[in-house]
Amino acid sequence: MTACIVGWAHTPFGRLADETVESLVVNVTNAALADAGIAAKDVDEIVLGHFNAGFSAQDFTASLVLQASPDLRFKRATRVENACATGSAAVHQGLNAIAARIARIVLVVGVEQMTTTAPADIGRNLLKASYVRDEADIDGGFAGIFGHIASLYFQRWGDQSDALARIAAKNHKNGVGNPYAQLRKDFGYQFCRSESDKNPRVAGPLKRTDCSPVSDGAAALVLADVETALALDKAIVFRAAAHVQDFLPMARRDVLKFEGCALAWQRALAQAGIALTDLSFAEVHDCFTIAELIEYEAMGLVPQGQGARAIDEGLVAKDGVLPINPSGGLKAKGHPIGATGVSMHALAAMQLSGTAGDMQIKNARLGGIFNMGGTAVANYVSILERLR
Ligand code: COA
Repeated sequence: MTACIVGWAHTPFGRLADETVESLVVNVTNAALADAGIAAKDVDEIVLGHFNAGFSAQDFTASLVLQASPDLRFKRATRVENACATGSAAVHQGLNAIAARIARIVLVVGVEQMTTTAPADIGRNLLKASYVRDEADIDGGFAGIFGHIASLYFQRWGDQSDALARIAAKNHKNGVGNPYAQLRKDFGYQFCRSESDKNPRVAGPLKRTDCSPVSDGAAALVLADVETALALDKAIVFRAAAHVQDFLPMARRDVLKFEGCALAWQRALAQAGIALTDLSFAEVHDCFTIAELIEYEAMGLVPQGQGARAIDEGLVAKDGVLPINPSGGLKAKGHPIGATGVSMHALAAMQLSGTAGDMQIKNARLGGIFNMGGTAVANYVSILERLR
C-alpha cells in the first residue's frame, strides 16, 4: 500500500465537437484538483496518457496540462503511451513515482479526441497499435484484428454469437446508469444478436454492437502517498498494481489465451492477497465483446473455452458473483484511447466511495481493473479498496 486516489474527474465521453485535446485536459485537471482539495502548486509530478498516433495535429502534449494553471509551470510532466492501455500506463507511472518517493502528489490525466478524424484515417491510426509489419493491412481497422480473433475462437470453441450479444446487451444496459457514457441506450439482446441495417456486420463475426464506439473524452486522478491521503477527504488505496507486457506480433503468441492478461491478474491478486471472487466488481477492457469473453477465461472466472458460461450463468451480471463493467464498459461508455484507463480508475473510485449513483454496486469494497493495449500486449491490473 503505497498510494491512494484522492480525487477524480471525468468528462462525458462521445462526440464532443466543441472541445479540443487542450480544453479536455484543462477541464479535468482543474476538476480533479478541486475534487481532491489539492492546490496546483502542491502537485509534484504530472503524467499525461495520450495515444494520439495521428488523431490530433498537436503531438508533444505533456505541457498542455500546464495550461490549467500557472502554478503547474516548472513541474515534471511526461506523456506516456501504451496503445489502448495508455491511461493505465499513466496511472501506474504515477504510482511508481510515489513508490520511489520522488513525489507525494501526482496528477494523472488521460485524453483522446478521435471523432474529428476522417473515418478512413481512424482505422489507420488505430492499426498503429498492431504489429504494423504483418498486421496493419487488415480490413476494418482494429475491428478487423478482433474480428479475426473472434473467427479463430469460433473455429476452436464453437460459434459464440449468442454470448457476444449477451455481453453487448449487459454492458449497454449497465451503461444507461452511467452519466458519462456515450451510448446510454438499453439495446436489448435481440437487437445485439441480429444483423440489421442498424446493426451491420463490421468484421468477421463482429457486428456494430460488438464494438466500442469512436470517442472523445478525458479523465483525471489525483494520487497521493498514504500518509498525505489520510489527511484528505477521500482515500482509495491501491492494494495491487501489475503490468505485464507481451510480444507485439500475434504470430508469436496463442492469441486466444490472453496470457499477459492472465499473468497480470495472477500477480495482482497475489499482491493483494485475495481471490478473484473477493472483488466486489471489475471494470475490464471490452474494446470488442470477444475481448471481454476471453478475459473471463484469462482472469480465471471460468476455464478456457468456456467464457460463455460467465455471461450465460449470470456470474458477471450486476447482481452476479463478480459484476463486470457496471459502468457499461468501453462498449457503452466509449473508448477515447488515452482516457480509458484513467476513466476505469475514476469509475472504480466512484464505486468504492459509494458515489457511483445508478451504477452503484451495493457494499462495493474491493474493485478490480483490467486495461489492455493491443491484442493483450500491454496488460494492466489494479486492485483498489476504500481506505476512507
Ligand atoms: N455500438 C453501438 N452503436 C454504435 C456504435 C457502436 N460501437 N458506433 C456507432 N453506433 C451508432 C451511432 O450512435 C449511430 O446511431 P444513430 O443512427 O441512432 O445516430 C449509428 O450507430 C451510426 O453511427 P456511425 O458512427 O455512422 O457508425 P459506423 O458504422 O461509422 O461506426 C463502428 C461503427 C463500430 C465501425 C465504429 O464505432 C468503430 O470503428 N469502432 C471501433 C473503434 C476501435 O477500433 N477502437 C479501438 C479498439 S482497440
